[in-house]
Amino acid sequence: MELNIPKHIAIIMDGNGRWAKKRGLPRTLGHREGAKSLRKIITHAAKLGIKHLTVYAFSTENWKRSKEEVEALMFLFKTYLKGEEKNIMENNIKFTVSGREENVSESLLTAIRRLEELSKNNTGLNLNIAFNYGGRAEIIDGINRLLKEGKKEITEEEFSKYMYRDIPDPELLIRTSGELRISNFLLWQIAYSEIYITDTLWPDFDEKELDKAIESYNKRDRRFGGVK
Ligand code: FPP
Repeated sequence: MELNIPKHIAIIMDGNGRWAKKRGLPRTLGHREGAKSLRKIITHAAKLGIKHLTVYAFSTENWKRSKEEVEALMFLFKTYLKGEEKNIMENNIKFTVSGREENVSESLLTAIRRLEELSKNNTGLNLNIAFNYGGRAEIIDGINRLLKEGKKEITEEEFSKYMYRDIPDPELLIRTSGELRISNFLLWQIAYSEIYITDTLWPDFDEKELDKAIESYNKRDRRFGGVK
């Protein structure tokens, strides 16, 4: 059977901390393993012909974690940007970030903007990293932008253009490590997304696991509120 591959997959990469704890390791090592998983999933997603992959790397609420963990996540992201540049360019990946700039260091913002600029004409997979991201913040930022423009009334289609990135809504939302919640991720865009939750912790999530999620998506009967 020919599989229907979603154009946009969104992932809540959860469980790095638990993965590390189970092994008696510091949480930051879990995040490092999580970054390795992400690399594998990006390559596999590109191979499958997925057009957009949005991954939740740091939420507006994650600043509440210990200073040590926040710093480690910032450092990991910066290292990631440097380390992945070659891979991104060689594989024709378009790199984008969704999120607020406030509280993010100038050096990290510069590195993000640089890679966005460098890869903007790439036509393969769009890797969209949700960083310092909150779904409510994104909606409020959109509303404030349209108020500034003096808009009085808009349609759902128009409002979608006020989100951080003008990309189609994800058909499939994956959450690892078994938690049954949305955690303020892509609130506007996931209205009709199919949700796939696995107990697998993010550092253990591999190519086979992504295939399994896509197979599960293929068994869903998508009605968008209608009747078939
Ligand atoms: C959730 O696990 C994960 C995060 C808050 C960070 C996600 C970051 C990565 C996967 C690192 C790689 C990303 C980039 C872009 C370099 P958790 O810490 O909440 O795990 P727990 O629920 O088991 O404690």
